[in-house]
Amino acid sequence: MEKILVRGGHPLCGCVEVSGSKNAALPIIYACVLVRDKCIIENVPCVSDVRHSFDILRGIGARIRNLTKTTVEIDCTDVECGISEYSLVRQLRGSYYLLGAEFGRFGRSRVAYPGGCDFGVRPIDQHIKGFEALGGTVVTDGGYVEITSPTGRARGANIYFDVSTVGATLNVMIAAATCEGMTVIENAAREPHIVDCANFLNSCGARISGAGSNVIKIKGVDQLHGTNYAIIPDMIEAGSYMVAAAATHGSVRVTNVIPKHLESIAAKLEEAGVVIDEYDDAVHVSVPGELRHTNVKTLPYPGFPTDMHPQMCALLCCAKGTSFINESIFDNRFRYVEELKRMGAKIKVDGRIVSIEGGTPLSAAPLMAVDLRGGIAVVIAALTCEGVSEITGVNLIERGYDDAVGKLRGLGADVKKVLLPDPDVKKANA
Ligand code: EPU
Repeated sequence: MEKILVRGGHPLCGCVEVSGSKNAALPIIYACVLVRDKCIIENVPCVSDVRHSFDILRGIGARIRNLTKTTVEIDCTDVECGISEYSLVRQLRGSYYLLGAEFGRFGRSRVAYPGGCDFGVRPIDQHIKGFEALGGTVVTDGGYVEITSPTGRARGANIYFDVSTVGATLNVMIAAATCEGMTVIENAAREPHIVDCANFLNSCGARISGAGSNVIKIKGVDQLHGTNYAIIPDMIEAGSYMVAAAATHGSVRVTNVIPKHLESIAAKLEEAGVVIDEYDDAVHVSVPGELRHTNVKTLPYPGFPTDMHPQMCALLCCAKGTSFINESIFDNRFRYVEELKRMGAKIKVDGRIVSIEGGTPLSAAPLMAVDLRGGIAVVIAALTCEGVSEITGVNLIERGYDDAVGKLRGLGADVKKVLLPDPDVKKANA
């Protein structure tokens, strides 16, 4: 078992470089299934969701090799539409992009239900609605989603999503890239990773327009060709280091970012008394005085991202006064709250509203990462308090943060990862 040990109470200082976006990398990696050729993808984050995705693709015949630590060649020329191993697919949410990719290439797919962080109910009805509109017959049975089509090829359609959904927008866009005819997605999600996946597909010869707006048009093409493509920086990783800098009253330059993607995060940090200086591909974060309480509502892009909610809560625990966070995307993204309460945080959850009575210093405690963003939030909270906090559930943090411990150490944090003996083995050896 691994633990992260954090001895907090020191401001973070220096420079941290952000990795490629996990939530852009995943759909792009699966979209390679549509391409009977080699794709070279740069700025790939070294996170376990990506590694598991490579294993899933290797399982259907993809040849994948690392050219450098962050550049990968993916060759899906010979992939076959197989049944992907349940034990791998359930490791992550993004594995559901295999459905859209296989449906687009083979006109059929069978993939186990995806895993991912536990935020309560996470339906995939909009994905299914999209695949059905594209001519698929979808059966969900025995933990699997199976798509078949009488013609063996998806066909273009008009699709209106009932909610703004990142996953279904990407899945339908991927499936439609090589289908017959024109697809129009209305009420499409507008996140930067959707634009990035559309740009990747277009660099392979797809004809997608409107990504980044709420109407995306996809003119299906017969074939895609190989490409060389660099993934955008991870806005949530960037935001997490911005919050860590602010919570510790540090002074940090966060590099390899697209400042436009960070606008809602920067705006809320500024309301909380943080100074953000913007450069071409970097932001500098500092806190000249006291942190101030503020209110946040999570919204689809360009609103404040739900993936920054737990980190923002950790920060607001350090701001005097009462702050509120309204979680409007997921109905139960609050499991991290109990962990912050172990540190003495005064937080209440009422429905989807989190109220935070901030300003009392937190104290070190044994803690658990309950999910990816909740995990980094407890690390941030631990960085603010004196004493040593031990954090378990490291594997959840590593799903989406590339070398978080190394990057925090680079900012002067007293943080290390330790490998503890398995308690059962220890007992047996005693
Ligand atoms: N929804 C439906 N039906 C669907 C799909 C979604 O009702 O068929 C609802 C969800 O229940 C939710 C809302 O629509 O209330 C938004 O869900 P969305 O589909 O946008 O989320 P997702 O695709 O499951 C992705 C990211 C999440 C991120 C959300 C929102 C990946 C692999 N996951 O999830 O990332 O929170 O979009 O931006 O891209 C993370 O990185 O920590 C993470 C959880």
